Amino acid sequence: MFPERFSNLPAYAFPRLRALLDHHPAGGEPVHMTIGEPKHPFPAWVKDELAANIDGFNNYPRNDGSEALLTAISGWIERRFSVKTDAASQILSLNGTREGLYNACMALVPEKKFGDTPNILMPNPFYQVYAVGAASIGANPVFVPATRSTGYLPDFAGLPTDILKKTAAVFICSPSNPQGAVASREYLRDLINLGEVFDFQIFSDECYSEIYRDTPPPSALEVAAEMNAHPERVVIFHSLSKRSNLPGLRSGFAAGGPKSLARLLQLRNFAGAPLPTPLQAVAARAWSDEEHVIENRRLYQEKFAVADKVLADFEGYQGPEAGFFLWLPVEDGEEAALKLWTETGVRVLPGAYLSRDVNGNNPGKSYIRVALVAPKQDVQQGLEKLKNCIQN
Ligand SMILES: Cc1ncc(COP(=O)(O)O)c(C=O)c1O
Repeated sequence: MFPERFSNLPAYAFPRLRALLDHHPAGGEPVHMTIGEPKHPFPAWVKDELAANIDGFNNYPRNDGSEALLTAISGWIERRFSVKTDAASQILSLNGTREGLYNACMALVPEKKFGDTPNILMPNPFYQVYAVGAASIGANPVFVPATRSTGYLPDFAGLPTDILKKTAAVFICSPSNPQGAVASREYLRDLINLGEVFDFQIFSDECYSEIYRDTPPPSALEVAAEMNAHPERVVIFHSLSKRSNLPGLRSGFAAGGPKSLARLLQLRNFAGAPLPTPLQAVAARAWSDEEHVIENRRLYQEKFAVADKVLADFEGYQGPEAGFFLWLPVEDGEEAALKLWTETGVRVLPGAYLSRDVNGNNPGKSYIRVALVAPKQDVQQGLEKLKNCIQN
């Protein structure tokens, strides 16, 4: 009665975590370091902007995004990545990147490549919507390890040629969740080149791009433009969730070649749930303002410094380059999460819940993911407890 294609999906990470921890009492005042929900304040003007545009609830919103929003996004892309985009044909407003990442498979991946089911490559560990997008269209997900030995980014070029030939799309996440690795220009150039050779599209999830230590991470779109790659080669996905601390606004965008964007819009016209007009007004202002983003980044930079200090002698600790997670090596992620919860009240996510088993190997098994979203003092306390508990 129900479709087979979702039968193999594992349970979502957070119900799994609740099943692991919730029948044990916390060993101390709970410290939540599991979910990547930004907790810094959003800009104060959001309330006024929303109130000023409240009458917009009277209208059906535009599916592609208001002209003001698309123009604001195009302006941000140009300021941030030095790439000119046509607001009307190369940008699409989304309800957060998650919507776009899922729909990219639906709208852009062909049914067959060289007569066979296409492959969709993705890092392992990864943001789970990539695999669900692939499952929805019956494509083959190929989980490519992103481990310490590969610089925590997937080595797509190392895959056998017969896999690459049948690849229709590749998901890349930079800065990456969970490891906080940044794909360099060279990495992106190599990936885009591989896409040119094997003719696959690159779906580049860049939703953590504004949370970094000192060097702004590059976008696949700017590297593709510099290389003069095929105009449809890359689609990028960005969000206000992390950049502006507005995860509840559900606002993001996709940008790329006009043919890809037209297809994404066509799907959205039929099946999408556009962002309400007053929220589009808030989003337009958020993309036009950098001051709050700089302050937000500063707060994370302070917490990177705390983590570097507290965990300086934690075995295998490598501070993240960007994003807001620590990816900490432990013996066994589930055991460590349970021990931390029952002995200290610190709640973290076992890395295996963000990764897939491939041939009996799960690259996240001996890791925990620790979110640095709480205020600095709480992060410091949580990390001190974590270090003492794991190292004892
Ligand atoms: C890697 C990654 N991509 C995409 C998203 C989706 O974010 P949003 O839909 O809020 O933009 C998240 C959210 O946690 C994420 O970690």
